Amino acid sequence: ERLFQIAIDGPAAAGKSTVAKIVAGKLGYVYIDTGAMYRSLTYKALKTGTDLNNGAGLLELLNRTEINLLTGENGQRVLVDGDDVTERIRYPEVSAQVSLVSSFQEVRTEMVRRQRRLTESCNVVMDGRDIGTHVLPDAQVKIFLKASVDERAVRRYKEEKLKGMNPSIEALKSAIALRDKMDTERAVSPLVKAEGAIEVDTTSLSIEEVVSEILRIVKERR
Ligand code: C5P
Repeated sequence: ERLFQIAIDGPAAAGKSTVAKIVAGKLGYVYIDTGAMYRSLTYKALKTGTDLNNGAGLLELLNRTEINLLTGENGQRVLVDGDDVTERIRYPEVSAQVSLVSSFQEVRTEMVRRQRRLTESCNVVMDGRDIGTHVLPDAQVKIFLKASVDERAVRRYKEEKLKGMNPSIEALKSAIALRDKMDTERAVSPLVKAEGAIEVDTTSLSIEEVVSEILRIVKERR
């Protein structure tokens, strides 16, 4: 019996990771946040003063970088070379540069290799931008999650407020729109709805509603 794979793609802040985490928990699958991997490399590049415009240099850095995604009592944690960077990879400085770092072919090839390796022995829910199109083209379930930019900015605003940050809706909106533009217009594995993916517009849906819609789709295919 083939392992079961659920690919969830979509633009920034559409709720992919929130929903993917819950779906994985309910099914007993492993959740893999590929955005966290690109964010981790971006974080390390910023920290080490690596040139963000040089794909070969970024690959060289990645080859010396260990990224671990852990699921434990404290939820999902991200370790870079053993350091817990879970919060730091969400900082606006990282968000602002991650689309540039992820645009290089060299970087993507190595990330995809690592991502596929993580699926070798378990059922997974994986989220990102190119999961259904490139990373797991044979996934049994492909979901394309979307929501209006306004709604996504409001959700991010509430999240950041809760974290004690001092966000601006307008700044969040333009940052999200810019990231979408870069992710959909890049030459290598741009964000696009995969063939066979089911589109779910979450603009006016609750988290629970999105989760149950995905579970319904999974049930049909299992
Ligand atoms: O999912 P998240 O918003 O954390 O992803 C951060 C960034 O990483 C995206 O805006 C995109 O530039 C990049 N990314 C990607 N391919 C993926 C996952 C994320 O290019 N599979």
